Amino acid sequence: MKKTVYIARPIPSKVREYLDEHCHCIEWQGEGRITRDDMFELLSAADGLLTSGTRINAELLDQAPKLKIVSNISVGYNNFDLDEMRTRGVIGTNTPGVLDDTVADLIIGLMLSAARRMPELDQLVRKGLWKKGMDEEMFGVDVHHATLGIIGMGRIGEAVAQRARFGFNMDVLYSNRSHNVEAEQKFGARYCSMDELLAQSDYILVMTPLSKETEKMIGRAQFAKMKATAIFINASRGQIVDEAALIEALQTGTIQAAGLDVFEVEPVDADNPLLKLPNVVLMPHIGSATHATRSDMAMLAAKNMVAGLSGQVPQNVVKELRG
Ligand code: 8YV
Repeated sequence: MKKTVYIARPIPSKVREYLDEHCHCIEWQGEGRITRDDMFELLSAADGLLTSGTRINAELLDQAPKLKIVSNISVGYNNFDLDEMRTRGVIGTNTPGVLDDTVADLIIGLMLSAARRMPELDQLVRKGLWKKGMDEEMFGVDVHHATLGIIGMGRIGEAVAQRARFGFNMDVLYSNRSHNVEAEQKFGARYCSMDELLAQSDYILVMTPLSKETEKMIGRAQFAKMKATAIFINASRGQIVDEAALIEALQTGTIQAAGLDVFEVEPVDADNPLLKLPNVVLMPHIGSATHATRSDMAMLAAKNMVAGLSGQVPQNVVKELRG
């Protein structure tokens, strides 16, 4: 008999067809957003859950006694309570690799937009305020030949380092739990302490996964160590940064600007002070969101699901849950 999979996120039709071949798929059929109670009801019969962002904690797992695998359509898996999943023998998978170039492209876009003040100047043109040649107050700063500091040199960090080095002639510094020899050899990235990175970089990119160790790792003390001209970029998870400290740093000129794809609370609150600041570029957590990449992520997540439900070891079991 086919195993039951609850599909909690929209997926492309070809991915759905693949899943239908191997599993019995169920989805929320009601109006609007599913409530947690309705989700628990669907999960009571599910062997697998295909999702992204759903908190997989004791409360949910209690309602899903048959659950064998949670397949995330994302590389991040901070939604997993790893201890609970380990105790109950629930497999957790993610989708590394297929999104690296797409996220790296967006990061370069954030750097360029913040440096050259693109959203601000776009608004100026739209509002009919372009009356004469632009004078100094509208000038930006260069990305090329500047220094980029990458906090967290994983696959996406490497894809950014490659673009920075070869596309923009940038010097790349990085801090990481361990040396990334490949990034050093291929992109001339130089390993350094966090303090050195903060002090030396013109662009500072946070690209670490969110964990207890990285939560709020960038706060007031770290902003104070950055150059007053620094441009801060975050495309990993909002909770890695103390957002109040970031807002203060942007308001007081401790740093020059920021480009953000992620926030402490998502979707971002309408009264978040970041929305009022001209020196920040805001994106709605869209780093991996191209048609092709989201489709590849969904297919990889579906393959992980099918492997897990058929008793094989899926390709992308997250490292903390490997047997
Ligand atoms: C996800 C992301 O697609 O992969 C991640 O970790 O943040 C995004 O690429 C996002 O979670 C929405 O599904």
